[in-house]
Amino acid sequence: MKDGEASFTARFPAILRAAHQVLDGDPKILDDPLAIGFVEGACAKEIKANIERYQSPPLIQARAWFAMRHRFAEDSLAQAVAGGAGQYVILGAGLDTFAYRPAQNKTALHIFEVDYPATQEWKKDRLKTLRIDIPEHVTFAPVDFERQSLAQGLAQSDFDFSAPAFFSWLGVTMYLERGAVFKTLKDILSMAPSTQVAFDFELDEAALHGQVKRSIAKASASAARRGEPWKSRFKAEELQLALREMGFKDVTYFNAFQAEERYFSGRGDGLSLNGAGHMMLARA
Ligand SMILES: C[S@@+](CC[C@H](N)C(=O)[O-])C[C@H]1O[C@@H](n2cnc3c(N)ncnc32)[C@H](O)[C@@H]1O
Repeated sequence: MKDGEASFTARFPAILRAAHQVLDGDPKILDDPLAIGFVEGACAKEIKANIERYQSPPLIQARAWFAMRHRFAEDSLAQAVAGGAGQYVILGAGLDTFAYRPAQNKTALHIFEVDYPATQEWKKDRLKTLRIDIPEHVTFAPVDFERQSLAQGLAQSDFDFSAPAFFSWLGVTMYLERGAVFKTLKDILSMAPSTQVAFDFELDEAALHGQVKRSIAKASASAARRGEPWKSRFKAEELQLALREMGFKDVTYFNAFQAEERYFSGRGDGLSLNGAGHMMLARA
């Protein structure tokens, strides 16, 4: 992150989630109409005016991934809520719309958005511009994962450490040093039993091949140019083992091929992950 500046890379997934609503067929991988216009450049008119760019294979693949990682987290959250979790903590929330969707007004879920302070201020400004009031069920907790602990950040909010929560951490771990990733995971592990976390991570370069390797290299170079270089990558099996050794239970590695089968099979619009995207789900 550039010191004191809002995340630039948070715009791209937000715009592509909007493009998913505007350009892809039904059912959507992620049903998120609020994404349209949520960030500058994400209104339907602008997306349609650049349709050739958005319908290029790299952007189709990227939006499939950005939609899928949220869908996986939100499906896992729904199961956690059915099991009794009443708190949802969105780490590195960026322009995630979940908390502002009308459906959330009908639930008792308390949502915490944890993000780099400058990104959070930018999001609050954006909400003001869009005339979206911050609902009572939403708490903002500013945290720089490389300088503060998640536990300290949440301790300054009304987060209930004695009750189980569900954490999502999407598109963030690659921007942090390994130490900050494991420190944050340790904090999650220390929370109430049955607390869960879903997060994505970048695969070690040695595990990448062909088209996926090329598109990941481009994404990484683009983030670095924006002043937000990727700092950590993992071997999936090693990460899974590390989570188990830390004390997490039910550690599930959900890879791109499983995601393709679960969420994309039978679609007629060509939307596909094409082998990109890796997630973990684990229970404290
Ligand atoms: C690529 S965006 C992803 C945003 C959102 N989760 C999504 O999927 O659209 C990366 C997010 O990580 C956050 N981030 C990066 N480094 C961080 C740090 N050191 N502490 C807290 N948040 C950080 C940024 O502020 C930004 O919101």
